[in-house]
Amino acid sequence: MMNAPSKPTLFSGIQPSGLLTIGGYIGALRNWVRLQHEYDCLFCIVDLHAITVRQDPPRFTERCLSFAAQYIALGIDPEAATIFLQSHVPAHAELTWLLNCHAYMGELARMTQFKDKTRGAKEQAIGVGLFDYPVLMAADILLYQTKLVPVGADQKQHLELTRDLAVRMNHAYGPLFTVPEAFIPEVGARVMSLQEPTRKMSKSDENANNSIALIETPDVIRRKIRRAVTDATLGITYAPDTRPGVANLLTILGALTDRAPAALAASYADQGNAALKNDVADALIAFLEPFQARYHALMDDREALHAILRRGAERARHRAAPTLRRVYDAMGFWRGEQREET
Ligand code: TRP
Repeated sequence: MMNAPSKPTLFSGIQPSGLLTIGGYIGALRNWVRLQHEYDCLFCIVDLHAITVRQDPPRFTERCLSFAAQYIALGIDPEAATIFLQSHVPAHAELTWLLNCHAYMGELARMTQFKDKTRGAKEQAIGVGLFDYPVLMAADILLYQTKLVPVGADQKQHLELTRDLAVRMNHAYGPLFTVPEAFIPEVGARVMSLQEPTRKMSKSDENANNSIALIETPDVIRRKIRRAVTDATLGITYAPDTRPGVANLLTILGALTDRAPAALAASYADQGNAALKNDVADALIAFLEPFQARYHALMDDREALHAILRRGAERARHRAAPTLRRVYDAMGFWRGEQREET
């Protein structure tokens, strides 16, 4: 049965590297949970992207499963949204090759993420995968006729490239792909690093004190929040430009308690950093404890977790197949019987 989805398709991916953080939750994953019923959502763990840097194989396996379990424990319902590992859908790699043959060295060399990640490196030591990363991302998106892609500012350029490739392919071969759009949710908050609050909290930060992992223990949460950089100004005000550390704590507390950071600041007017930090730590622990209980239950029932991912992959393969076939056909590949699997 073909079920033609009536809701617009939304695709997003997270690389299984580092540790999912409270910043990733507040900035992205929380929105996914809200969007899953409004849109036809595919949430992908982009394991093929993760190997653009060397991974330790056993830890990589575990991290992919852990990320999936965390998505679900955060409230992404595997019945409502399609949750899957990128490598389980070979069409991603296949479409990447077809797109590679239409992408230009020049446009990939201009990508600021590529430039940032390779700055100072010798050309002999720069992996081709890192260079080609945005084409794989384009394949992720275009395979599903995606309309909307929730992305942060750092990924906008990759999305522009995706759009360029879609338009180029449609122009060359006739309509193949929906041209996707960046989707910036209304409710979005940027959580900053705890030690350097002018930088975004990152899941791959080398300094563990900069971030709170979703699987952090209560003791560590308290310690990290207590040590978060603030300032010596008396009282609490919400001023992201001049008091980024305090503003960041207010952002976190506001996101977890559904209050505006500026309004929260007013309620702490006569109190100090210590009181605010204490409440931030309490709110984090109150949110993360039940999440972690769900997460550990999922990780302890591997059969169930594997079954969810198998089902997600089946659904994604089924969804991807017609687009991939259309591209092959449009380019004139002879379709042998071996391509009749869908
Ligand atoms: N490049 C994205 C990032 O680092 C991850 C990603 C891969 C992605 N494929 C995607 C995001 C497709 C959105 C859509 O954040």
